[in-house]
Amino acid sequence: MMRERCLRPFTCPICQQPLHRSGGSARCPQNHTFDFAREGYLHLLPGGNKRPKFLGDSADMVQARRRFLDTGLYEPLRMRLQTIAKQCVKTINEPVVVEMGCGEGYYVGGLAEQWPSAGCFVGVDVAKEAVRLAARRYQGVQFAVADVKRPLPLAPACAHLLLNIFAPRQPASFAQLLASGGWLLVIIPQDNHLATVREQLGLLTIEADKEAKVVAQFTPWLRLVRRETVSFALTLTANTLADLVLMSPNARHLDEGQRAALATLPLHSSEASLTLLLFQRS
Ligand SMILES: C[S@@+](CC[C@H](N)C(=O)[O-])C[C@H]1O[C@@H](n2cnc3c(N)ncnc32)[C@H](O)[C@@H]1O
Ligand SMILES: [Zn+2]
Repeated sequence: MMRERCLRPFTCPICQQPLHRSGGSARCPQNHTFDFAREGYLHLLPGGNKRPKFLGDSADMVQARRRFLDTGLYEPLRMRLQTIAKQCVKTINEPVVVEMGCGEGYYVGGLAEQWPSAGCFVGVDVAKEAVRLAARRYQGVQFAVADVKRPLPLAPACAHLLLNIFAPRQPASFAQLLASGGWLLVIIPQDNHLATVREQLGLLTIEADKEAKVVAQFTPWLRLVRRETVSFALTLTANTLADLVLMSPNARHLDEGQRAALATLPLHSSEASLTLLLFQRS
């Protein structure tokens, strides 16, 4: 059965009142109107000089991410996320699940596709190409182009579960979006994530003490209730390895030598190593 796209948590970015479907548009009570794109997503970034300067991942990065995730190599992470998500909201009738910085939709889209009951699934990302690819594939999720670093076009206390996977965070606003008792699942890389790939290609390292910093960011608002690591082996062909690099922030820093090295690397094994941090609002 196809899940309906759900507009319930969305608010008008101009007047903050609820948005409702009206033909091919979403409209607020003051008649501010936002057209659905052909793929079904909404563009809710402010225009003119309020438009954010940083528009997230480039189209090339998004396409590399889609190709990489389509190999299924990160499926162990997606499976673990799905199990935790279901446990978190199992007592809620129609949970609202929102992914902040959803990219091309792999996690929230996968969750919506195999969710056992009614629910409302939303993904936001500032990169239009990411949202376009996400909306085209995952018809049961309402995607929107929006900036998580600014006030979001989502109602306070609307979400039962927020997902934030390798993406920017805005702790105060995430906490404000959570319903009482709501959950936030953050996934970040560990120091040794893809260590052999980083060493061989001289790539960016993971920020020191990243986990402690993330926990400290959220503790004024949310309680850390669970922490676990997920690690799994990766066997990477030259193409997959290139995509893994090109979908990451490294894509913005590669020099000619590194680009040439990418094209010639032989089959490579490495290990994905992630930390899952589960927070709850009291
Ligand atoms: C590393 S990708 C992760 C995407 C997805 N969660 C995944 O794991 O496949 C980070 C994503 O955050 C998005 N992003 C960066 N800054 C953002 C912002 N200020 N607001 C919303 N999304 C942002 C990027 O466009 C990109 O899609
Ligand atoms: Zn309005």
